[in-house]
Amino acid sequence: MTIFGDAYIFTWDFFLALFNAVTPNLKEGHVVPEGHPGAGGKWPEYVPPGEGDSRSACPMLNALANHGILPHDGKNIPFSTLADTVHSTYNFAPSFCYFAPYYIANFLKKDYSKDTVDLAEISAHNGIEHDASLTREDTFHEPDQGKPHVPYIEELLSMASGKDPKIKADDPKEVLLTLDDIARYSAKRRTEAKERNPDSSGFLRIFGGRVSDLRPFLIEERIPQGWESSVRARKGMTLAKFNFTVLPLEFRTKKYMKELAKKDK
Ligand code: HEM
Repeated sequence: MTIFGDAYIFTWDFFLALFNAVTPNLKEGHVVPEGHPGAGGKWPEYVPPGEGDSRSACPMLNALANHGILPHDGKNIPFSTLADTVHSTYNFAPSFCYFAPYYIANFLKKDYSKDTVDLAEISAHNGIEHDASLTREDTFHEPDQGKPHVPYIEELLSMASGKDPKIKADDPKEVLLTLDDIARYSAKRRTEAKERNPDSSGFLRIFGGRVSDLRPFLIEERIPQGWESSVRARKGMTLAKFNFTVLPLEFRTKKYMKELAKKDK
C-alpha cells in the first residue's frame, strides 16, 4: 500500500500519535473496549468459512468474519463497519482504520460512505494485495486470495528464533517471530516472486510475536481465546507508527535479498 491521500487524514493521524505519546498505555486486559466482542479476551464462537462465503487476502479481516464480528458470509459490509471493527478488535487508530478501507473504496471506484464491500473484493490485485505475500500464493498460481497457503505459513513460523522473556525459555511453544525472521522470509518470497511487497510484512511485524498465537491466526484465521492486541497505545496504531515500523523491516529485507542474489551468481 502506498501511503498517499488527503492531508487531513495525516494531520488527524499526527495528533493521534501525539496523544499516544503523552498518555499512558491501556492496561493489559483492557485493550478491547467494554461491550465489544473480545472484551476481557472472550471471543465469539469461531465458525470456519463455508461454501459461498467471501474471504480476503487479509487473515485478520477473515478472522473477524469467522467469529461473526463481521458478517460471517463476508458480504455487503459497509466500509465504516470495517473501520469500526478493526479499531475495536485490533486497536489500530481511527485514522488508520479509515485510511485502509477508504483507499480500497477508491481503488474499487466505490463510495466509502454509501457503498458496501465483499471481503473478496478487498483482494483486488495491486490495490493493497500484491504478489510475494507471506501467507498467500501469488495470484497467477492461486486466483482465490481468500485461502491461506499453509506451506508458506509453516515455513515462515519455522523460522521463528526469538524467545519470550516472560515465558519459560525452554518452552518450545513460546518462540517469537522476530523482525529479522520476517525480513529473511520476506526476502525469500520477494526473490521468488520478483515483486516488491513491503507493507504486508509490516502488518505481520506489528502483530508479530508468539508463534502459538500466530499459528491459529494465520492458518485457521481464528482468534485464540484470551488473546488481545499487543498494541496498547490509547488511540491505537497510527499510520505514522506503522510506517516507522515498516522501515527497519524493509531495510533488513533488502539486505537479505542482496545476500540471496549474491548466492545465485
Ligand atoms: C481495514 C483494514 C485492513 C485492510 C483493508 C487490509 C487489507 C489487506 C490486504 C489486501 C492484504 C493482502 C496483502 C498482500 O497481498 O500481501 C492484507 C494482508 C495482511 N493483513 Fe490486512 N488489512 C487490514 C487490517 C489489518 C490489520 C488490523 C492487521 C493486523 C492486526 C492486518 C494484518 C495482515 C496480515 C498479517 C496480512 C498478511 C500479509 C502477507 O500475507 O504477507 N491487516 N491485508
